[in-house]
Amino acid sequence: MPSGFIPEHGGQLRELAAEFGIPETSLIDFSASINPLPPSDALVDALCNQMQLRTILTAYPDVNYTALKQAIASYAQVDPSAVAIGNGVMPLLDAGLRALGLRTCLVPLPSFTEYRRVLRACGTECFHLTGNDAKGFAIEADKVIAELKALNAQAILLANPQSPTGQMVCRRELRQLCEVAIALGVTMIVDEAFIDYAPEDSVSQAAAQSRNLVVLRSLTKFFSIPGLRVAYAVAHPEVRIAMESSIPVWPVDSIAAEAARLALADGNAMAATRDANARERNWLADALRSLGLEVFPGKANYLLVRLAQAQDGRKLWRRLIAEHRVVTRCCANFEGMDDRYFRIGVRTNPENRILVRALAEELHSKCNGR
Ligand SMILES: Cc1ncc(COP(=O)(O)O)c(C=O)c1O
Repeated sequence: MPSGFIPEHGGQLRELAAEFGIPETSLIDFSASINPLPPSDALVDALCNQMQLRTILTAYPDVNYTALKQAIASYAQVDPSAVAIGNGVMPLLDAGLRALGLRTCLVPLPSFTEYRRVLRACGTECFHLTGNDAKGFAIEADKVIAELKALNAQAILLANPQSPTGQMVCRRELRQLCEVAIALGVTMIVDEAFIDYAPEDSVSQAAAQSRNLVVLRSLTKFFSIPGLRVAYAVAHPEVRIAMESSIPVWPVDSIAAEAARLALADGNAMAATRDANARERNWLADALRSLGLEVFPGKANYLLVRLAQAQDGRKLWRRLIAEHRVVTRCCANFEGMDDRYFRIGVRTNPENRILVRALAEELHSKCNGR
């Protein structure tokens, strides 16, 4: 069994299957935090119909993405002039850093591992603020502000909900942090890739009004379409125009744009996703706690879990794959964390039960003691 390999991202099932010498299709993925309810038949049928007509293939995408921006604007309750489209959150982060000429940026840890690469590519110096695990890695506004002042940083980049911790800053607190940051002349970039699970805490509307606040949102996770690359930024219209000037034309293809538009129109599917996720997240959190695991609170579709000091996290992670075909996200390669931390995506109840059974078996027999 391989020993050192930990994938850079969740969802790298192909690599894991090759590493472990097992079929990819036998794996259940708890590592990627994608909504386990796939896009509806109606959405897939509508796309297939458009493919049959061929025009979705033979014509260029709308250069202005008018229909998609309109759909996003009414979903996020902002004006379409505040919406920029991108083929993922990272290209939009890149565009925001360049548009605003941000040379230095504070990133509270732990954080999405791709930020570092984008900051480097943009020539933006990255300062880290190490999170406090005793406080569940919560964003502590007073510490953030003190650090921004001490470093004289031009920007702060944080995710809300945070990944991999699941920590949330509520809208009121985030707005307060924004106000202080803006008074210091600091730009806030808030990655809301998972905010659709708690839309009441989004600061998108404030971003549409402020030149110092940019929100980045994804359609890939909540709408379960990571194979189609669609994301958007909400920013003041002047900032949005500047961002678009550094995004190559036609960032999103017509099929992805149409899938996103259709998904955003399906309020019933969104409500079903939020209900199922809340129910399963609570069930899973209780089941994991009953195994003696520490489970951090979260509002998104994943839970951060910590093993007791005496357990070997890497060995457990490997055994879950090799013996039970269950893939979790080992957090050993997140800065500020170690192999005792796991991120577990919330899936359907039968799948969650498989995970809990596998963990129960491993924790109570084989993985105790380093
Ligand atoms: C916090 C966070 N932001 C952004 C992304 C990337 O989102 P997208 O698929 O829209 O590029 C991820 C993906 O895992 C993520 O965890």
